[in-house]
Amino acid sequence: MSLSKRAEKSLDTDPAFMAIYKALGNKYDAHTNATGTVILGVAENSLMAPELSQFFTQNFSITPYQLTYGDGYSGSIPLRNALAKHLNETLHPTPELTVTPDHVVVTAGVTAMLDMLAWALTEPGEGILIGRPLYSGFLPDVVMRSEAVPVLVELEEEGIDFFGAEAVRRHETAIREAEGRGVKVRALILCNPHNPLGKCYPPEILELYLKLCTRHNIHLISDELYALSSYRTPNNTSSPAFTSLLSLPSTPALIDPNNLHILYGMSKDFGSNGLRLGCLITRHQDLKSSLLGVGRFPWASSASDVLWTKFLLDEEFKARYFATNSQRIAESYMFLREWLQERRIPFVEGTTHGFFMWVDMRELLGDQGREGERRLMEKLLEVGVWIASGESFGSSVPGWFRITFTVEREVLVEGLRRLGRVVDEVRREGLVRGEGVKGVEEVEAEGKERLAN
Ligand SMILES: Cc1ncc(COP(=O)(O)O)c(C=O)c1O
Repeated sequence: MSLSKRAEKSLDTDPAFMAIYKALGNKYDAHTNATGTVILGVAENSLMAPELSQFFTQNFSITPYQLTYGDGYSGSIPLRNALAKHLNETLHPTPELTVTPDHVVVTAGVTAMLDMLAWALTEPGEGILIGRPLYSGFLPDVVMRSEAVPVLVELEEEGIDFFGAEAVRRHETAIREAEGRGVKVRALILCNPHNPLGKCYPPEILELYLKLCTRHNIHLISDELYALSSYRTPNNTSSPAFTSLLSLPSTPALIDPNNLHILYGMSKDFGSNGLRLGCLITRHQDLKSSLLGVGRFPWASSASDVLWTKFLLDEEFKARYFATNSQRIAESYMFLREWLQERRIPFVEGTTHGFFMWVDMRELLGDQGREGERRLMEKLLEVGVWIASGESFGSSVPGWFRITFTVEREVLVEGLRRLGRVVDEVRREGLVRGEGVKGVEEVEAEGKERLAN
């Protein structure tokens, strides 16, 4: 029996994607799965996992009330109270934009919220503006069900500063060009701090984006998931600090606050991707009501709700957690940085937030461009390491990769050992032209054989 046309469009049969998906189910573990794949391609932070699992285990209790449908499907009242307090304390909104529990809509993760936002803000075929490279999830999140059209803004040309004023002008040009093609742009997504680039927008550039959205009467969605995942090193002292759009004194004058929507969640700053929980902070009453309507689908579990609330209310644990987290992220960053420098592999300097570095491996591709990038990915999977390729971030320049460094040190060392083998081999012998991406079984079988040698 066939599926609906909608469902058929969402079938993913790309062999490269399937190989990665399979790798996730065959994760490296020094003791139990030494031939598994080292995953350095996912935006996860495991550096605080021991403390977090202990805290969550000790604090997990479920009351009979939490076994019911509870306070409805936009997050429990205690969670929304705790979140409003946390966001006011950490994002420092201007008085006009103070967050109240009433501005917070909770879902099972920000992915679900992005899907719902695209559904609520666009008609099928209308545009959402995003600069490239971009967080890989933005595309499926806004396209798959809502059928919004991503209007990608080219920002990777030599000499263009992704976080600068020329980038804003390019967004404006992209709006006009899209409209020339009959695509009405309804929203802009900013990712601040940025995934995959690991940096923040300076306040004066944020102001330009606010003005741009007002000029074109479009919504501004600000993804601030990595707000507190910051680290200080001797190499980033002159990089812009994080500024939430809620905290800019000029925000209320530059945009109608109803058109500004902030995304936040538990996955990144709270190191808990698996405890699916995220939220939107919005003052737009109609948007909020419509999200409450469809929020029944990605209704968050009371288990995650309870755990996040406990975390947010435990001031002592929270303070210790954030201080130690930043320190560990900085240490892991320095480890990867030194490794890349020793290997003479360039990367984007001055990063301040997030779990990854944006690494330039164009040298390894020779003249093979995108095919070369895919071939390199395939080689890496063959030796059992996965880093995320630029293609998945909508990068228009083949050869960039995002490497996550916030994994246990022993895992990072093993992953880099495998990556180093491939880099050395390609430098010695060149990147042999592939015959197209292999299927899952083939990649796995070859990988096992190589690791055994
Ligand atoms: C920038 C950004 N937004 C959203 C998400 C999705 O978050 P969640 O786990 O809450 O769905 C991610 C996850 O990698 C991300 O990096």
